[in-house]
Amino acid sequence: MRNELLKEYSPYLEFKNGTLHFDGVNLKKLAEELGTPLYVYSANHIRDQIRAYKEAFPDALIAYAVKANFNLGVIKIAAEEGCGADTVSGGEIYRAIKGGIPANKIVYAGVGKTDEELNYALEQDILMFNTESEMEIEVLNELAGKKGKKARIAVRVNPDVDPKTHPKIATGMKKSKFGIDINKAFEVYKWASQLPNIEVVGIHCHIGSQLLDLSPFGEAVEKVVNLYNKLRAEGIEIKYIDIGGGLGIKYKPEDKVPTPKDLADIVLPKLKGVDAQLILEPGRSIAGNGGLLLTQVQFLKQKEEKLFVMVDAGFNDLLRPAMYGSYHHIVAVEEKPKTIRCDIVGPICETGDILGEDREICEVNRKDYLAILSAGAYGFVMSSHYNMRPRAAEVIVENGEYRITRPREDWDYILWKETV
Ligand code: LLP
Repeated sequence: MRNELLKEYSPYLEFKNGTLHFDGVNLKKLAEELGTPLYVYSANHIRDQIRAYKEAFPDALIAYAVKANFNLGVIKIAAEEGCGADTVSGGEIYRAIKGGIPANKIVYAGVGKTDEELNYALEQDILMFNTESEMEIEVLNELAGKKGKKARIAVRVNPDVDPKTHPKIATGMKKSKFGIDINKAFEVYKWASQLPNIEVVGIHCHIGSQLLDLSPFGEAVEKVVNLYNKLRAEGIEIKYIDIGGGLGIKYKPEDKVPTPKDLADIVLPKLKGVDAQLILEPGRSIAGNGGLLLTQVQFLKQKEEKLFVMVDAGFNDLLRPAMYGSYHHIVAVEEKPKTIRCDIVGPICETGDILGEDREICEVNRKDYLAILSAGAYGFVMSSHYNMRPRAAEVIVENGEYRITRPREDWDYILWKETV
């Protein structure tokens, strides 16, 4: 039963002889060897997710959203599988290229790109700038002109659909800072296509993240296709339709999760007759359940109200529960016949440093390990040094072997170049 549930998170996650394994690696041994907190990513899981996208969308460019997990080893897997990258900063472009993604498969979104970042992206000759305001297009036109280049752009349109997800990760509604209102976009395209150093090549939209109900995708794509047809009639040729990321993953045991194939069934029929390449920007659905966070129990404390299990990972390591109230399933690495009910909390000096509230887990003692699931996306990348805590190490597991892809930081690393 326990293994059946785990398999719904990842087919590479299972208890063997009472100990949790990921992609063939014994997590207890791994934690003992490398210490905790430790981010563990399954190469096979990530590859499978990418392949599922490629199968469902054979002609599309899968631009992995590196913001979800920008570890170089993870990017390299995406590159090996033929992915492009969706980026939101100069640094992410730099990382994506270092990880082996060719610049001509990189798209670049973001509402506040600096001149330095725009110049860097122009020098790298990325596939497309997903522009978010008229002022950005003007500046890009100017900067490209200075370099004697033409910048390929899409306008990120805001289709005003409700993605029915957490408000903090909904991006395609009118009141959000992202994109240009779809009703205004036609005029912006007409204007932009006249600029000397701009080549209009695409339409971009991204409505939100962790979508479990796919109907908003259908709504958004319909609106985008209407715009595409209008632009075509005006003689503006669109080569790429980029519909962003957003497919949800399993966090709670009861979550029923759509697959890339389900997404294709909604999106592809609406794109019939559209002569443009589709671009997708999945992040969470590629890396999310391809990763977990291993943490060690430091102390137990029975208070009148409840039992607290204090672990060595806090919201500096995994911010999602504190920031969005997100649920992450937590399992003890060793199976025991007895279970306990407890709050699993981190060492940060804030009441909100709760990783799991009122959970039932197998009995644990001091120095035992817990695995926090679904932590491969928006986990390490959102971690911080709060409370002067070095960030966790990251390791990739694959077919029973592991490789450290980022070593654990130490105090001097945090103090780098700092002076009194
Ligand atoms: N494309 C764009 C333009 C985006 O803004 C995002 C995510 C993606 C693609 C990838 O979306 P995904 O496939 O991962 O849903 N920190 C939050 C999630 C923020 C998502 C930001 N944008 C969390 O932990 O839930």
